[in-house]
Amino acid sequence: KPDEVAVADKIFKRMIGSETIQNRIVELGEELNQEFEGKKPIFLGILNGCFLFMADLIKQIDVPCEVAFMKVSSYHGGMESKKVITEDYDLKMDITNRHIVIVEDIVDTGHTMRFITDKLVARNPASVSIVTLLHKPDAMEHQIDELKYIAFKIENKFVVGYGLDYKGLGRNLNDIYQVVQ
Ligand code: PRP
Ligand code: MN
Ligand code: MG
Repeated sequence: KPDEVAVADKIFKRMIGSETIQNRIVELGEELNQEFEGKKPIFLGILNGCFLFMADLIKQIDVPCEVAFMKVSSYHGGMESKKVITEDYDLKMDITNRHIVIVEDIVDTGHTMRFITDKLVARNPASVSIVTLLHKPDAMEHQIDELKYIAFKIENKFVVGYGLDYKGLGRNLNDIYQVVQ
């Protein structure tokens, strides 16, 4: 496979290969199985970006759990957060006294996770924790204590692949790629 790919009008280079991703997901699954044994957690994926990570992570979970999704967006395909979050669809189920595990592809500025976490906490769950595939510590603009499980910390460069898009494209790539400046 080539090290560089074109997605829309930009070139990206491979940063994290699929084998590395899958191995890390196995480790995260083991941690989550220990933490949520007997708690019947709800794994709540944030669409669209989470879809591949959610699918692979949930296959590593061996405690009784539920799966749900909500959809919000703030990037609208581009490289900059619009800081205005569009709620495309909300979680309909009652989460009172339930353990919620939010599954995200990336926590970048943190706007999306702050918004969603605040909304969920107001509905009186037993707990809210966040598991994210990627995290950019240098881009964070919020404190998010719920962010407990991070597969990979990365530098502050735009990334695509394995669920993440640029201009709506690139979600189908098996590896994660970063923009070439
Ligand atoms: C991306 C990503 C996270 C969010 C992170 O979603 O999937 O949900 O942005 O950015 P933040 O920490 O700066 O808020 P996006 O709005 O691009 O929608 P998508 O998942 O449908 O691509
Ligand atoms: Mn997203
Ligand atoms: Mg996006």
